[in-house]
Amino acid sequence: MADVLLEATGLDKVYGEGDTSTHALRGVSFTLNEGEFASIVGQSGSGKSTLLNLLGLLDTPTAGTVVYHGQDVGKLGKPALAKLRNSLVGFVFQFHHLLPEFSVLENVLMPALIGGRPPMESRKLAEETLGLLGLTGLEDKGADQLSGGQKQRVAIARALMNRPALLLADEPTGNLDTVNTEQVYKLFRQVGAETGTAFLIVTHDRAVAQQTDRILEVRDGELVQDVRNSYLPPAQ
Ligand SMILES: Nc1ncnc2c1ncn2[C@@H]1O[C@H](COP(=O)(O)OP(=O)(O)OP(=O)(O)O)[C@@H](O)[C@H]1O
Ligand SMILES: [Mg+2]
Repeated sequence: MADVLLEATGLDKVYGEGDTSTHALRGVSFTLNEGEFASIVGQSGSGKSTLLNLLGLLDTPTAGTVVYHGQDVGKLGKPALAKLRNSLVGFVFQFHHLLPEFSVLENVLMPALIGGRPPMESRKLAEETLGLLGLTGLEDKGADQLSGGQKQRVAIARALMNRPALLLADEPTGNLDTVNTEQVYKLFRQVGAETGTAFLIVTHDRAVAQQTDRILEVRDGELVQDVRNSYLPPAQ
C-alpha cells in the first residue's frame, strides 16, 4: 500500500460576502496517495481551479483542512507555508507563464534558486530535468523563441525542479494540439515513474482523463469520487 500524501477533509470555499458571494466548494473530502496519477473533471465554473488552488496552498479554505504527510497546513505560519509550497508542490497552468526575456535554463533554475539550493547542484538538476522532458540542447535558447509545445514542456520542467511530491496541473494541454497533448501526458507518466511524483490534472478532455488511473469529478462544488467507469469518451 502506498503512503497517504494528502488528505482533504470538508473543504468549503466561499468567495466574497453577502448577496454577491459564491459558494465554490462544498464539503470536499478525499485522499491522494504518493505517486498517484489522477485527473479532475467537471463543467466550467464547477470549482476545479478553486480546489487546485487550495491543494496547492495558493489560497486558504473557508472551512476544512488540507493535511500533507500528517501535517495540517492550516496550522502553519506564512513562512513555513511558503517553504512547504516550494518543496512539496509544482504547478503547471494552461498558459506557461515563462519569463520571456530569460533563457530556458534560467527559467527552469528559478525555483531551485528560490528554494536555496546551491547553484552548481541546481544547474545539474536543471539539466537532468530538461533531459527528462526531451529539451536537452535548448538550454540557452530564449523562452520566447520556443514553440508552444516546447514552452509547455519547459514550464513542466520548471514545476518538477524541486522534485515535488505532487504536481498540480490546471488544463496543462488546453493550448496544445493533439500530438503535443499526447506527448505531455506520456512525459507526465514517465516522470511520475522516475521521480515518484503524484499528479492531479484538471482537464476538459474526456479522452485525456481516461488515460489517468483515477478520475474525480467536481459537480457544483461537490466532489464525486472515482467516476472513471461512468466517464467514457463519447461514441465515435
Ligand atoms: N477569485 C474569485 N472571486 C469570486 N468568485 C470566484 C473567484 N474564483 C472563482 N470564483 C467562482 O467560483 C466558482 C468556481 O470557479 P472555478 O474557477 O474554481 O471553476 P472551474 O471549475 O475551474 O471552471 P473552468 O473550467 O471554467 O476553469 C465559479 O462560480 C467562479 O465564478
Ligand atoms: Mg478553472
